[in-house]
Amino acid sequence: MCGIVGYVGQEQAAPILLDGLSRLEYRGYDSAGVAVYDSTLGTLSVHKAKGRLNVLSQQLHGGADLHGTIGIGHTRWATHGAPSDVNSHPQVSRSGKIAVVHNGIIENYAELKSFLISQGIPFTSETDTEVIAQLIEYFYDGDLLSAVGRVLHRIQGAYALGILCDDCPDKLIAVRKDSPLILGYGEGCSFLASDVTAILRHTRKVSYMEDGELAVLTQDSIQCYNHLMQPVDKEIVQVDWEMDAAEKGGYEHFMFKEIMEQPQALRRCISPRIREGEVVFEDFHLDPQYIRDLQKIYIVACGSSYHVGMVGKYQLEKLTRKPVEVALASEFRYMDPIVNEHTLVVVISQSGETLDTMAALREARRLGGKILSIVNVVGSSIARESDQVLYTWAGPEIAVATTKAYSTQLAVICLLALYFARVLGTVEDGEYRSCLEDLLRLPDQVEQVLSQKDHIQYFASQYFNHDSVFFIGRNIDYAMGLEGSLKLKEISYIHSEAYASGELKHGTISLIEPGTLVVALGTCKRLFQKAMSNVVEVKSRGADVLALTTESCRKEMEGTASAVMTIPDARELVLPCLSVVPLQLFAYYVALMRGCDIDKPRNLAKSVTVE
Ligand code: G6P
Repeated sequence: MCGIVGYVGQEQAAPILLDGLSRLEYRGYDSAGVAVYDSTLGTLSVHKAKGRLNVLSQQLHGGADLHGTIGIGHTRWATHGAPSDVNSHPQVSRSGKIAVVHNGIIENYAELKSFLISQGIPFTSETDTEVIAQLIEYFYDGDLLSAVGRVLHRIQGAYALGILCDDCPDKLIAVRKDSPLILGYGEGCSFLASDVTAILRHTRKVSYMEDGELAVLTQDSIQCYNHLMQPVDKEIVQVDWEMDAAEKGGYEHFMFKEIMEQPQALRRCISPRIREGEVVFEDFHLDPQYIRDLQKIYIVACGSSYHVGMVGKYQLEKLTRKPVEVALASEFRYMDPIVNEHTLVVVISQSGETLDTMAALREARRLGGKILSIVNVVGSSIARESDQVLYTWAGPEIAVATTKAYSTQLAVICLLALYFARVLGTVEDGEYRSCLEDLLRLPDQVEQVLSQKDHIQYFASQYFNHDSVFFIGRNIDYAMGLEGSLKLKEISYIHSEAYASGELKHGTISLIEPGTLVVALGTCKRLFQKAMSNVVEVKSRGADVLALTTESCRKEMEGTASAVMTIPDARELVLPCLSVVPLQLFAYYVALMRGCDIDKPRNLAKSVTVE
């Protein structure tokens, strides 16, 4: 979850590191630190501070106080040891000679720590990372690479590491196992980073480190080695993300910017994939016979991506008549899943780095399943380990709460369901073509929904003081309720739950009292009357009902609900891509009115690379 960055070149390192960290802050933001080699002093200069990155940045006057052209930096999401100056990274060895930044968890750190303490080595922090720095120094005899190699044989767990030693002030060492790390190739400089957004300002040429690889970076070259320390040639790829896509561009928050970017993101995701009336997936090869022989589709994901999976189940089953099971990635490998060569496992992940999702992918592969992933971040670990990848092409998403990546995941699922249905012959020609037309129309309809943002802001101003909110709906409206509820709780810290409306009578209705806020979703035409009945039920027990329905049902809903948000009428297949927008905006405005830190909600991180 933490963000790491490293630079070696000819310019002052500290401002570059701080700028890189500012783009990684979504990965962790409870403390930050940098280490720069100061050539005049001949030592490492390490500075760390608890709190947001700007605390450190102010202390260092934007980096102007630190002199040196090589360094590493870190923004932390605490696992071992509470957020504090001392627990922040870089962690240094006893003599201060070796500095380490780390993303991940060292599982056997306690055992290693006891060993080092028994050797008389004192520890200053509670972190697992300090063990790495101390152990490198323990093995160091003038050959840094060999000392790092010996440490790697002893540590267990997940790690991406950036290492700097004051004896080798022209080199950085990068190591990766189960935590993302990329290498950047600049003009007379080299970078390491958790994510491309950290270095996009300096270079677009990157390579992705594989598990078990180690790299030595100098200003002129990067040499990679495999786990046997044999040199490996890395493929250098060009990143095509625009720099301004990772900037706020005048918006107050990334989340709002990303909500507003959804029409473009959906266009980018959908239009190249519909050609001459057919769904076309380039670089995607699933034998039609394999699709026909499929016995089951599993969808595996976490968080919002899991909610996409729930919608995907309805859509895939409806269009293909193949059974679809949806599982939380964190549960998947513990539930003894039934997977064989006739099972397609669809893995959904915005970041492509979620550890639980990655573990589920590996378990599915072990059991013989084929892996198709739906991912936003190109070259991410999940994308690279999958048999097939469908990218969502939403562009970089910075806010912790996902919006445009989520809606493009939904769009990819729609395209996939139509593609399979076409192969299987389970969709009529006319229906297929109308679905494609609706998908192509979708970005404009999302624009229409976004143009109503002021109404939603007004509703948020009416309800932002509630302590507890219930979301109710059936079928896709239930799945969307889960996402609406998650968005709200993530960023506004209001307690919120989503229920399948039919379950109300089995318990939840006892929680409804005068003034309770219920967000009732009734966008699905065939279930509208059922939705109305549930609105009446909660209304008659005193609830304030904020309803979400389609334009043609507005009038009927207005007669009963306290307030109504609407989306254009649309086919069920594309409804979720529309209904999510008012829910995102509602959560955003509520959080804004409550004065919350919207882009970096407490305790959360965008890329969850620990179990
Ligand atoms: C975190 C993020 C969520 C996201 C989830 C799964 O909790 O805050 O927005 O849905 O991880 O992430 P993934 O990258 O696998 O989609």
